[in-house]
Amino acid sequence: PGSGRIIVVSNRIPKGDVPAGGLVFAIDEVLTAAGGLWIGAADPTEFALEGLTEIGSGAYDRATFAITEAEHSGYYLGYANSVLWPLFHHRPDLLNFHDGDFEAYAAVNRRVARAIAAIAEPEDLIWIQDYHFLMVAQELRQLNVTNRIGLFLHIPFPSPTDVMALPQVAALSSWIAAHDVFGLQTKRDVTSANEMLRHDSKASLMPNGRWHRAGHQFQILSFPIGIDAVGFEETAKAADVPQLQLAAKAPLLIGVDRLDYSKGLVHRFKAFGDYLSRRTEGAPRPTFLQIAPVSREDVTAYQDIREELEQAAGSINGAHADLDWTPIRYVRRHFDRAVIAGLYRRADAALVTPLADGMNLVAKEFVAAQDPDDPGVLILSHFAGAAEQMEDALLVNPFDHGSFADAIDRALHMPLAERQERHAALRVSVFEEDIAWWTEAFLKRLRGTNRT
Ligand code: G6P
Repeated sequence: PGSGRIIVVSNRIPKGDVPAGGLVFAIDEVLTAAGGLWIGAADPTEFALEGLTEIGSGAYDRATFAITEAEHSGYYLGYANSVLWPLFHHRPDLLNFHDGDFEAYAAVNRRVARAIAAIAEPEDLIWIQDYHFLMVAQELRQLNVTNRIGLFLHIPFPSPTDVMALPQVAALSSWIAAHDVFGLQTKRDVTSANEMLRHDSKASLMPNGRWHRAGHQFQILSFPIGIDAVGFEETAKAADVPQLQLAAKAPLLIGVDRLDYSKGLVHRFKAFGDYLSRRTEGAPRPTFLQIAPVSREDVTAYQDIREELEQAAGSINGAHADLDWTPIRYVRRHFDRAVIAGLYRRADAALVTPLADGMNLVAKEFVAAQDPDDPGVLILSHFAGAAEQMEDALLVNPFDHGSFADAIDRALHMPLAERQERHAALRVSVFEEDIAWWTEAFLKRLRGTNRT
């Protein structure tokens, strides 16, 4: 009955074709099926006008809000990616506060809220994505918008002590409380958020599991995001595997990550180095292919991790390579999704070993891409949100290089029957809890809320 449009807000919005995969692909799927409006940031300009600019229409509409160069630096590079990102990934040591960054973040959140308030019909569902827009709901409430508003946080929720390093920690619970549904990836994240709210004397947890604050109810729930498993499996099956020039029987390990300090790439290289040190003479010579396109290059911590990683790759290869063998192939360029899918299918093991990660969809894509008759092995960090659903992976502690190296050894020697069994179990959650399941679960909750 009068269910209204879905209005999605995310910082990234495709300006042309929608790339297959990731958050952006998921939103495209949701809106193609349900119709609605997708709002995202325009490329920065010198001046920022109010309101929205239409950039496409079809099954749904797309529009951008303007931001200035200065706001891009304060809101995106600054508060979002030098404060919230490190803090929410348990790296308070990487926090970089810069005067004016929070003000830029607040200004962008306010402009987005004004733009939505100007167009929203009462029955529209407003679905905000990620840490770039934690204040939008509160700004909307101040503009007397009474629509149902949900936010899904794609990254982890900070631990109760880390969060205290946020200068705006006192306001964070009121930002959260302005939503009807505040969605997180894992149960662990929900525990952290509840713990933080317990310290807010204005908030109380009711017997029905909902929070109550300042006359309103809201819910904090986990919705582990999934992938288009059927589509990805098909892409992997149809893909031509690129020529890798590996020796016969040489095992292939693969890693695919944005070059980010949260991904644990240096630990991964070092654990692989430890594995190589133990390798016996004459044993097959493994190749570890790490694809890591650069990301957020204007943030210092990203320049530092890149240098550190390149040094690790150089020193490990220097120690172990031979005239006809390079153990680590570190590739920074971007590849099409079909190429990645084919590589996953070809690989004997995947290394998905972040130090902190909201979910990590590479883990799920790798499982979907495998041939069930002869599947590769997923080595997964305990610290990826995906570990909550994927207990049949080889779970590792990426900080402990010794046991991580043991897991690599185990993966490369795992008998076929055990590989099949683990893969079959992993497939169940990847295919059942897929992107459609996630969308349904979130929107059903949001539709079912009643704010007062
Ligand atoms: C993570 C975030 C997304 C973000 C993506 C790429 O997955 O949760 O919100 O879009 O990284 O990062 P970028 O800064 O390039 O958009």
